[in-house]
Amino acid sequence: MSFAEFESIATARRSTRDFLADPVDQKLLEQILELGITAPSWSNTRPFMVGVATGEQRDRISEKLVSRLRANANEPGMGNSPDFTHEIPYPAGLVERSQRVGKGIYDTLGIDRADKESRFRFLERNYEFFGAPVALFFFTHRGLDHFGTLDLGLYMENVMLAAQAAGLGTCAQGYLGNYPDIIKEEFDVPAEYALVCGMSLGYPSHHPINGWKAERLPLQELTAKPKN
Ligand SMILES: Cc1cc2nc3c(=O)[nH]c(=O)nc-3n(C[C@H](O)[C@H](O)[C@H](O)COP(=O)(O)O)c2cc1C
Repeated sequence: MSFAEFESIATARRSTRDFLADPVDQKLLEQILELGITAPSWSNTRPFMVGVATGEQRDRISEKLVSRLRANANEPGMGNSPDFTHEIPYPAGLVERSQRVGKGIYDTLGIDRADKESRFRFLERNYEFFGAPVALFFFTHRGLDHFGTLDLGLYMENVMLAAQAAGLGTCAQGYLGNYPDIIKEEFDVPAEYALVCGMSLGYPSHHPINGWKAERLPLQELTAKPKN
């Protein structure tokens, strides 16, 4: 593959937040997940696992997640108990970046920030996998601390780029890490493995939300300046 081809795949990848119901070929899905394993890993330990939900299992998980979300709608933290806390306030300097994403998504969907019902509906769409036929759930081994999540991230990015090259869309979703008890009822995962997040995968629709583009920060802003 040429540099230009890689560039076109990498720059075309964007989070997909509305999918067609078209199924993903099982063989293709397996190839994409296998390509994930070409990522480097801390001492080649691959301290992560992936749960793949399609068909009836995907529908059942979605129903369980949506009903849990609705049941806890009025409670702070939505009654969730994630393996890794999500209650991390955004540090100064980063909160503005996050707010720009929220604003971009809500503006594109025509949702007023004060419109709690529509915002809740968008939250529900996360748990409906935005209509995607495939839902992935990612776990890391707690014993390798941050290297576990780092390796998982490398795996996830390979999966997302492979999916992109195959004409598929993806959305990594922290929200899918909110209810580990539901996900662990569905997959056989050793006790040392913790749920981190999930991912929706399928063919993107032509919904305007898929045309919205999160900003790309200039490299300069992410580059540490030499001290002298
Ligand atoms: C670990 C992780 C968790 C994320 N969680 C969510 C999520 O729960 N819901 C969502 O709509 N997007 C989620 N995103 C997508 C980010 O908002 C998105 O990657 C970012 O805004 C950059 O946009 P891009 O993916 O289109 O380049 C997540 C991304 C990552 C890497």
